[in-house]
Amino acid sequence: MTTPYLSAKLQGLGTTIFGEMSALATATNSVNLGQGFPDTDGPSEVLDAAIEAIRSGQNQYPPLLGVAALREAIVEHQRRFYGIGFDADTEVLVTCGASEALASALIALLDVGDEVVCFEPSYDMYQACAAMAGATIRPVTMHPPLYAADIDQLRAAISPRTKLILLNSPHNPTGKVFDRRELQAIADVAIEHNLIVVTDEVYEHLLFDGLQHIPLATFPGMRERTLTISSGGKTFNTTGWKVGWIVGPAGLVAAVRTAKQYLTYVSSGPFQPAIAVGLRLPDQFFVDIAADLQAKRDRLCAGLVAAGFDVFHPQATYFVTVDVRPLRADGDGYAFCRELPALCGVVAIPNEVFYTDPRRGRHLVRFAFSKRFEILDEAVSRLKGLAA
Ligand SMILES: Cc1ncc(COP(=O)(O)O)c(C=O)c1O
Repeated sequence: MTTPYLSAKLQGLGTTIFGEMSALATATNSVNLGQGFPDTDGPSEVLDAAIEAIRSGQNQYPPLLGVAALREAIVEHQRRFYGIGFDADTEVLVTCGASEALASALIALLDVGDEVVCFEPSYDMYQACAAMAGATIRPVTMHPPLYAADIDQLRAAISPRTKLILLNSPHNPTGKVFDRRELQAIADVAIEHNLIVVTDEVYEHLLFDGLQHIPLATFPGMRERTLTISSGGKTFNTTGWKVGWIVGPAGLVAAVRTAKQYLTYVSSGPFQPAIAVGLRLPDQFFVDIAADLQAKRDRLCAGLVAAGFDVFHPQATYFVTVDVRPLRADGDGYAFCRELPALCGVVAIPNEVFYTDPRRGRHLVRFAFSKRFEILDEAVSRLKGLAA
């Protein structure tokens, strides 16, 4: 379907599914396991720091690069968790969420006609940002149940027009964590073809079962070609604050800065020093948030299995993907999500929106478990009757 007035490069992008499904959740009084946001507040130290920043008058434009306290905290955090050093003045840029980091990176680095290689399913913003830059995504499809990265297909997707690889680990919507072998293979391909890599690591602290996050930038030869993106939203339950950042070599960060200054210029003034406080919280905080979310994963996954879905257990993130075919023979995940609120008062997201060709993800649906236990239990009890 074409949309009047919308430019040719954005045709087909329409309205994001998240708005549609959240509106449906409100209209039907459903449990919203669609959009990925937590329903509890983050640590009080972080909230108090934001209030203090507002009260102490930090309410005007922050510096383009981001406030110094946050940039320094980002550098300390990268060193503390991953042993990798960055310069707070030239290699760090604070952005309006990871979203703006992604948008400005792609707009800054891509020319019209360039190609971006990306594993799919993928966060729907990637395709939109590539389109805004006049570039196209060349997908490398991963398949359930394991969503293994097919490195032969990755190699086959590289063309003379490939400018960069866009990687998301831990991965939305599958909850996959790319393992060391896969990351090494991606690094090898990037080096061999002299590609830039943009990595989206917003779920870096939300890994389960003892798994560790390994930034691609820590692999030999990768620091100089990798832009690493993250955000405070998922780690500190502050998705509405939109404090994100990008770190990488000075030349690449300078390019991104050029685009960023003409998008929002700056954002989230008083929230920046508050996220700095969060990044400096003791190790135990980071252990605890992953453990809490792991227990929520277990609670929801058990309920989804009991409801009759084929469940692909995630290793990380807020999300679990299921196959709806045991409950809906035609395998139409989109129709399933549209009908689910009326059927039992639960909202989920059809995974087809995460594929360049929606048919590949037609039978898959994503539920978010970043909710209080009682909300998950309520959703599970509502889903129980579905098989009948
Ligand atoms: C993979 C991924 N990247 C980026 C974002 C956006 O992050 P932010 O809210 O910090 O802009 C999200 C949010 O859901 C996400 O899932």
